[in-house]
Amino acid sequence: MESQYIRASKNRGELTRRELIELGVVDKKLKIRTENDDLLIPVLKHIEGYDIGIGDFEEVIIERSPAQILGFSPAYEQIGDIAIIDRNQPQAQEVAKVLLKQNRIKTVLQAETSVTGEYRTRSVSVLAGEKRTETLYRENECRYRLDLSKVYFTPRLSTERMRIADKIKDGDKVVDMFAGVGPFSILIAKKFPSAQVIAIEKNPDAVRYLKENVKLNRVKNVKIIDGDAREAVKEISGADHVIMNLPHTSIEFLEAAFGILKNGGIIHFYAMAHENDLFDGILKRIEEVAGHSGLQIVPLDKRIVRPYAPYQFNICIDFQVFSTAMSSKS
Ligand SMILES: C[S@@+](CC[C@H](N)C(=O)[O-])C[C@H]1O[C@@H](n2cnc3c(N)ncnc32)[C@H](O)[C@@H]1O
Repeated sequence: MESQYIRASKNRGELTRRELIELGVVDKKLKIRTENDDLLIPVLKHIEGYDIGIGDFEEVIIERSPAQILGFSPAYEQIGDIAIIDRNQPQAQEVAKVLLKQNRIKTVLQAETSVTGEYRTRSVSVLAGEKRTETLYRENECRYRLDLSKVYFTPRLSTERMRIADKIKDGDKVVDMFAGVGPFSILIAKKFPSAQVIAIEKNPDAVRYLKENVKLNRVKNVKIIDGDAREAVKEISGADHVIMNLPHTSIEFLEAAFGILKNGGIIHFYAMAHENDLFDGILKRIEEVAGHSGLQIVPLDKRIVRPYAPYQFNICIDFQVFSTAMSSKS
């Protein structure tokens, strides 16, 4: 489309663009282009003191969001180039068609069940696009290959994973008791090359991806233990941190976690809680299990990680663990 433009030399290009934006004359419906080493900035009117001309410019295509196109906000998650629509989402076929037109979405799945069972997986069906359930997902500068029909994964924990990683120090021994495809373990290993990370996982498919993701991210400090966390802990001791990201049943593994922690070590404990009793009930149960093991706990932090279901929240409590025998001596 033909428009008047202002020409700016390469070294003044960005400055001129900002000046013109402040003057409110840049035509934002047209794309800025370069000619030789100059920037041609389409403008709505002539401004004294600038080098003006007339030329052809491409129009900016403003992509409308799925909600704008559909007239309602569909419930879905995007993981890599796959969108996965909530199992209760009405008009799923129509939503899938719209999502497929979005940048980067190549496949649209629909969840057919909730996340369930020991391995925390869900059944999915392909609604549109390429017929696959495997994708490559990027988070916190790490890459994860994973199959959404075979392993647990949610991008909604991305900030939480970074928050935990920020609590680790180089040289720490960190045990990720329910590692999945590795998003806590690999992030920590990458951030702290001298940390010693032990990733335990029972689902054989998740273990396969965990191994692949360790290679993909070129981390050398993750030891993978393939099997049940209760068995795996028998070969571990002296941990500085234990991550227990199995919110529905973490409490059943707490005694095992206590057994591998050094005195003063920290547990990052995930659970599901009702909004009427977010932390106190769970803290009491943790204290009971600690008491049976001759330990006492000192809560360091407690927070809501994300809403999970009506009135239910995924929470995390970080606490330090001390031997009562040692503390009564000191
Ligand atoms: C909620 S997912 C969390 C995975 C990972 N931490 C993440 O953020 O993606 C829990 C993981 O624990 C694994 N798991 C369940 N029971 C286990 C057990 N007894 N021992 C080891 N892993 C187990 C599941 O297969 C699943 O991958």
